[in-house]
Formats: sequence, structure tokens, C-alpha cells
Amino acid sequence: MAKITASVFTSHVPAIGAALDLGKSNEAYWQPLFKGYEVSKQWMVDNRPDVIFLVFNDHATAFSLDMIPTFAIGTAASYAPADEGWGPRPVPQVVGHPELAAHIAQSVIQDDFDLTIVNKMDVDHGLTVPLSLMCGQPGGDPPAWPCPVIPFAVNVVQYPVPSGARCFKLGQAIRKAVECFDQDLKVQIWGTGGMSHQLQGARAGLINREFDNAFLDRLIADPVAQAAVPHIDYVREAGSEGIELVMWLIARGAMDDVAGGKPPIVKHRFYHVPASNTAVGHLILENPA
Ligand code: DHB
Ligand code: FE
Repeated sequence: MAKITASVFTSHVPAIGAALDLGKSNEAYWQPLFKGYEVSKQWMVDNRPDVIFLVFNDHATAFSLDMIPTFAIGTAASYAPADEGWGPRPVPQVVGHPELAAHIAQSVIQDDFDLTIVNKMDVDHGLTVPLSLMCGQPGGDPPAWPCPVIPFAVNVVQYPVPSGARCFKLGQAIRKAVECFDQDLKVQIWGTGGMSHQLQGARAGLINREFDNAFLDRLIADPVAQAAVPHIDYVREAGSEGIELVMWLIARGAMDDVAGGKPPIVKHRFYHVPASNTAVGHLILENPA
């Protein structure tokens, strides 16, 4: 059967992608940030999954105000990097896993979560920057990401957005779906976006280290309490774009301990300010073998 082996959490700042693509990762500004992901890249090599279920948000790239799915699962065979205004990032196509994605859609919809099924979608920095941070800039001919990815897009851009509580329950339903898929696959679930940041208005530039670190503490040790935090608290404390953090609760809800198993092992924790306008947070949690 398929198994959730680990969850990965990381911010997705577009400027990180630009720094990598333009060969700026050795610059003094970026060095401390990329240093925090060296352990993670080695961990990815040592713990290569068969599939990554990647929870992210689209930034009005694939979707627009014309159509706003709250939760959208990618069931396509592949996804192209999106053109976000400066041309698509020069990174590989993202290969999907239509069979597992369709199975998860079936199971999760029958568990009363209304997912939008997406058979064609370009993927923006919300998805490609976490892949770059964890996997580097993949080589090969043609260059390829290390494994198939199921993109799972959450609306945290246009209100109303889903609550942390609903995201946490959805993670539990995704776990149930994965663990009854009849193939021996090691599946990682990634929660991305955040941490504190606000890109516009009077509070533009807001960073809240205290909130961010308390969030990381609680995500690890008391996710049930974190899931009860209402969305307005994220916006007030972590800025308008800090609401992206609710997506981390989807990945956390899929871990063993939430289903009555053992607590996760913290393999890596990293926090850095600033990257562009945001605080960057990162965790790797493993389910005990
Ligand atoms: C920035 C951060 C984001 O999360 C995003 O989606 C766009 C821009 C920034 O810090 O510049
Ligand atoms: Fe964002």
C-alpha cells in the first residue's frame, strides 16, 4: 500500500526562484537562506519519495477572479511552469501522477470535501520554488524533478478562504486516501507558502518572528491547537499574505500522530528573515518507521 513517509513545510518566495535561475545564490544576501536548505537537499537525496503531494497556492496564474476553486487537485500527466510576467522559470516540466491523484479525488470527495478536478494547469512559483529549494536545479537530459508531483491548489488569495480547521481535517482525509492506494509508494506531503508577510497596504513589509516561531512550535507539537486558530488571527499577526500558512495544516493533518500513531521526528527546522518581503520558515517532519 502507499504510505505517507514525511511532511515538508517551506515558504515559496518568487525572488528565491529568480536568485537560483539568475545564478545569484552565492550572493551575500542569499547565502544564509540557501545554507538553511543544504541539509534538506541531502535529505531529499537520502529519502527520495515516489510521489510528492504538494499543497500550494496559485497566485492568479492558473486561476483568476473568473473562477476561484477553494481546493483543486491536479490529475494531469504533466504541468508546465507558468509565465508569471518574466517568462516561465527555466525549470523542468512537472510530471504528475494521474492514477494516485484520481484515487485521492475519489476518496476525499466521498469524505465530503468538494475538490475541483484540474486536468490542465500551469504551475507558478507557489509550486516550483519549493521544488527548487528541496531538489536544487535538476540536471539530466532532459532535466527532470526527482519524482512525480500531485499539485494541490488552495485558495488563500481571494476571500473567503478556508479555515485552518478545515485544512487540518482535509489533511486527514488525504492521508486516509493515500494509505488505501494499492501500490507500494512512498508519498511525501508538502505544505508551502508563508511565513509572515504582507505585500501591500499600510502594513506592507510586516514580519512577525514571534508569531512565526510560535506557529512552528505548535505545528510540531500541538497541531490540534494550531488548527483552531481562526483565519483573522493569521492576517492580524502574520500579515495579509501570512494566511498562506493555513496550507501547512493540510500536510500536518496527514501525519501518523493525527491518526493515533507516534509523533513525528523533527529532521530539520530553519527560520530566516528576510527573503524579499517575507520571513522564510522550513520544517521536515518524518513519520517514525
Ligand atoms: C512575495 C512573497 C510571496 O508569497 C508571493 O507570492 C509573492 C511575492 C515577496 O516577498 O516578494
Ligand atoms: Fe505567495
